[in-house]
Amino acid sequence: MEFQNYINGKWVNGGGHQIFETINPANEEILGQVHAAEVADVDRAVQAARDAFRSWRLTPAPLRGELLFKVGDILKQKKEELADLLTKDMGKVISEARGDVQEAIDMAYYMGGEGRRMLGYTAPVEMPSKFGMAVRDPSGVVGIITPWNFPVAVPSWKIFPALIAGNTLVWKPSPEIPAISAAFVKIFEEAGLPPGVFNLLLASGTEVARALVNHPEVRVLSFTGSTATGRAIAESAARLNKKVSLEMGGKNAIIVLDDSDLELVTDATCWAAFGTTGQRCTAASRLIVQKGIASRLKEALVVRTKNLTLGNGLDPNVDVGPVINRTALERIHNYVQIGQKEGARALVGASIADLDGKGFFYKPTLFDGVRPGSTLEREEIFGPVLSIIEVDTLDEAIRVNNESSYGLSTSIFTQDVNRAFTAMRDIFTGLVYINHGTTGAEIQFPFGGVRGTGNGHREAGQAGLDLFTEWKSIYVDYSGKLQRAQIDNRED
Ligand code: UN1
Repeated sequence: MEFQNYINGKWVNGGGHQIFETINPANEEILGQVHAAEVADVDRAVQAARDAFRSWRLTPAPLRGELLFKVGDILKQKKEELADLLTKDMGKVISEARGDVQEAIDMAYYMGGEGRRMLGYTAPVEMPSKFGMAVRDPSGVVGIITPWNFPVAVPSWKIFPALIAGNTLVWKPSPEIPAISAAFVKIFEEAGLPPGVFNLLLASGTEVARALVNHPEVRVLSFTGSTATGRAIAESAARLNKKVSLEMGGKNAIIVLDDSDLELVTDATCWAAFGTTGQRCTAASRLIVQKGIASRLKEALVVRTKNLTLGNGLDPNVDVGPVINRTALERIHNYVQIGQKEGARALVGASIADLDGKGFFYKPTLFDGVRPGSTLEREEIFGPVLSIIEVDTLDEAIRVNNESSYGLSTSIFTQDVNRAFTAMRDIFTGLVYINHGTTGAEIQFPFGGVRGTGNGHREAGQAGLDLFTEWKSIYVDYSGKLQRAQIDNRED
């Protein structure tokens, strides 16, 4: 298979005729060749988006919405085919790949509906025969840079709101997932999106992304990925006065209080920590557990973790798929070794799994005796590694949770409504779950985090429109004379 860029409604090779290969992380089979974009292609794509913006912004939003509904319909029809390709491209197990596509379907319909809503407001004004309103305007050309862990869902949080608001865009996904990225764009093409509205650049390395970030015609940037890259993007964008949304790392915790339902916690923890092989920005990587339940919970978790089946995600009996590539495998193992050196004790896992010598598999790993402030406790590992930290009280649990330099998702298990509400009040992360793990956000609510996780923006829900629109306040004076606000028609 060959994967190309999509510029101005045409599938094209990169200008530099560079090619890179993409492989299936479960068996290292080559999925295809990618015709990589180069810096000059960024300019082509941005110009195409710039030209298309003229008419797209004037296309009535309800009609843009109908196109998004059509995209949703096609995604629904092709859900199985896309999920299959997604699993081959990045490795997550097939049920989760279906969920990844479903999240895009949900977003397509949600944002399609915004075509008839996109609410602005009117408010009374202080002069007679004068009218005031605030409306949302599109921003222009949007640059979108996304990771490999949610190849369809995460881009959809950015692409659908950008399009419904009347922006045009250039999307640069991670080079790990060209197959599913191209398939996703084909659906918009099939739905009849006009040329230039949606452009795709496939590239490895940082040059193309950097050119997109620095392109003067790109007014808005939306990024999901590592904290280091996000910061670099924000710095470049600040110099050019661009609007930037960053969704970066996490070090999410599940807090377990003594009164929790042991079986529920065990199920939820395994799912939140080892689902998607721990490669979610929302994955649980810390288990902050009250001492009274700690030993029973550890026992149950060890049994459950040992029973997880590793393998190719296309096999419906597999629980945990591969990690994305060899570098990730080595990085995860390196963290495990650091953890051991720092005195934490691996209860299960802690090594690379050899499945016929092929693929990038890491054994789900539980670490006991992890100290707050240690490397394992602080740094995002982005793999199937869960660190257990014991605490005495709810207060201590919340303090350990909030001391993280990240702030995306926290979960707490308790049957006590008072303690649950205290936690809801005092936990400082963008997402909070009660009696559910740290993953599984739905698209109708704001998604994002505080501290090192984000820069104040939220994706999804109504908040998801904010990045892609500019408020325009309009005053209409129909009095036929000069009326000075704040000055005329006053006694004082
Ligand atoms: C991510 O890992 O970047 O809440 C997104 C969740 C998913 C999305 C995760 N709906 O776990």
